[in-house]
Amino acid sequence: MNTLKIAVQKSGRLKDDSMKLLKDIGISIDNGKDQLKATATNFPVEVFYLRNGDIPQYLKDGVVDAAIIGNNVLVEKGNSIEYISKLGFSKCRVSIAVPKAMEYQSLNDLNGKQIATSYPNTVNAFLEENNIKASIHVINGSVEIAPNIGLADAIVDIVSTGGTLFKNNLIEKEVILKSEAVLAVSPTINAAQQAILDKIKFRIESVLKGQSSKYVLLNAPNESLEAIINILPGMKSPTVLPLAESGWSSVHSVIDKNQFWNIIDDLKALGAQGILICPIEKMVL
Ligand code: PRP
Repeated sequence: MNTLKIAVQKSGRLKDDSMKLLKDIGISIDNGKDQLKATATNFPVEVFYLRNGDIPQYLKDGVVDAAIIGNNVLVEKGNSIEYISKLGFSKCRVSIAVPKAMEYQSLNDLNGKQIATSYPNTVNAFLEENNIKASIHVINGSVEIAPNIGLADAIVDIVSTGGTLFKNNLIEKEVILKSEAVLAVSPTINAAQQAILDKIKFRIESVLKGQSSKYVLLNAPNESLEAIINILPGMKSPTVLPLAESGWSSVHSVIDKNQFWNIIDDLKALGAQGILICPIEKMVL
């Protein structure tokens, strides 16, 4: 039987959300501690727990067929490995940061400077594109310390909350790349494995759609129904059910989770009452 081999981060910032996503799409894994490989009990999938930086090469060589990985790592080491879905978590930037005290007007100020980074390929490509001549000092961790100990003038590293930069007296100056977790695919994947991956992709999209939407229920006076329906589009069109009290209806709809606060005042002005906003676990379109 064909099985899809999927890599996830062994440890690090993507690990927990990656495992949660697999769970949310109904893939049960007997996740014994310190295991390097686990087989799903209810889906033709084997999960490999690998070091982040090794995953692009394993994808390239076909050791694994797919991976949940940060796009920043793919860009740095990917050798044109493609991804098929953005996963909406582990959002971060790969950015240039400099000491707060440094005079910095533009990228040109990096000419002749030393840049410490764990992302040499990404930085080189960016510097070349912008015609900046700086030297790169590769460090594999704690990059933010480099300017403070005289190892570099500037750094390029992942910025998420910005807390690490702040603690090290650095300031973000240029965003080289915006990144998030993605579902990447091996170029050697075969048709049977691709079919399994397509199912996973479909399930992921259902989960992500659910996460970005809310189910809205409200009671509306019948004379305002049309106006309320106009501002609550729903998936096809809202469900309208009569209430026991005459002249009133219950309206059910799905809206983008970011839209709700924009329309709440209009709904209230139209007489909507008892408005409930509920999370959606999965949404299949
Ligand atoms: C990353 C990165 C920064 C930090 C930035 O390290 O190297 O140090 O996160 O995050 P912040 O903007 O929220 O402070 P991570 O903890 O992922 O470990 P790493 O050093 O192994 O990359």
